[in-house]
Amino acid sequence: MTTVTNNIRLAEMVPTRAILSLSEDVANGLMQAPRSLPAKYFYDEKGSWLFDQICDSPEYYPTRAENMLLAKVAGDIINEQQPHCIVELGSGTARKTRHLFDACSKAGFSPTYIPIDVCDEILIACKNALEKEYEWLEVKPIVGDYTGGLGNLPRHSQCNLVVFLGGTIGNFSEHEARKFLAELRATMTEKDTLLIGADRIKPPEVLHAAYNDDAGVTAAFNLNVLEVLNRELEATFDLNGFEHYAYFNPIQSRIEMHLVSMRNQSISLGSLQKEIAFIEGDHILTEISRKFTRMELENLLVEAGFEVTKHYESEGDKFSLLLGRPV
Ligand code: SAH
Ligand code: AVI
Repeated sequence: MTTVTNNIRLAEMVPTRAILSLSEDVANGLMQAPRSLPAKYFYDEKGSWLFDQICDSPEYYPTRAENMLLAKVAGDIINEQQPHCIVELGSGTARKTRHLFDACSKAGFSPTYIPIDVCDEILIACKNALEKEYEWLEVKPIVGDYTGGLGNLPRHSQCNLVVFLGGTIGNFSEHEARKFLAELRATMTEKDTLLIGADRIKPPEVLHAAYNDDAGVTAAFNLNVLEVLNRELEATFDLNGFEHYAYFNPIQSRIEMHLVSMRNQSISLGSLQKEIAFIEGDHILTEISRKFTRMELENLLVEAGFEVTKHYESEGDKFSLLLGRPV
């Protein structure tokens, strides 16, 4: 299956189970308390570029920490794994993945790169940029939702390096993360390796600042999901009627991002022919971002059927990169 964006044909990830539509997710998530929305809806074209801007904000330490760590260890990873194919889940602009490509250039390896993302525009931008930067690199993007099952994940018959960076595993609940990693494990052989990045627990004030940057980029990113609903469902959300609210929940060791209704208001969902009533203070949970201990991360991989072959930690243990070998 393929999808065409800006005259560019993208391969589509074929799901192995039904994926709820936006209308169904809204019916399930917004019509009843506690209200919530799946985080994947942040990432239309605008949301993807806002996330990229968040990565440059002085408060958002995860990107810098992971970037520095990967710069340090990419050579070892590539020389050790010698992958024929690098498959990246939720690749975005692949800004940090470039360290792996640099290491490949240095070592004279030329694996194919398969970025997988829900956002077709970001995949195209990523392919165009990478093919200019690395003349040897063949980029074969796949657009799709990785929560629809990984049974059709493309793989090389020899060695694959499956990459899941950014701490995106933290955007899954514990149950979802276990299920996702076990499903991923089932698609891999003992010749393949998983490289996963995850954010670590740290003082609440550091976490709070990272999700409440002074320039308001994270707030714009959060509010953008309402623009997505306005566009896709002919909804009438007034972005001035909601505020970004993010805090660290120490009991569940996670950042929670919410959109809080600033007044009593009724929102029409035109294409669903429904109305949603919000009273002042009502909130929508738009994202969780879990923060892990070293042990929790290792257990997560082991329980999914991986042996942790390396656990790299950034300076100050801000961020972890783990290598997992299917066992
Ligand atoms: N890995 C990149 C981007 C992280 S942002 C980095 O570390 O900087 C999370 C990325 O995952 C976004 O590009 C988003 O579009 C993608 N994404 C989120 N939910 C997804 C889903 N269900 N299926 C596929 N991609 C998804
Ligand atoms: C993509 N994901 C790991 C980011 C995070 O930190 O949970 C998304 C994000 N949300 C707000 N800022 C960044």
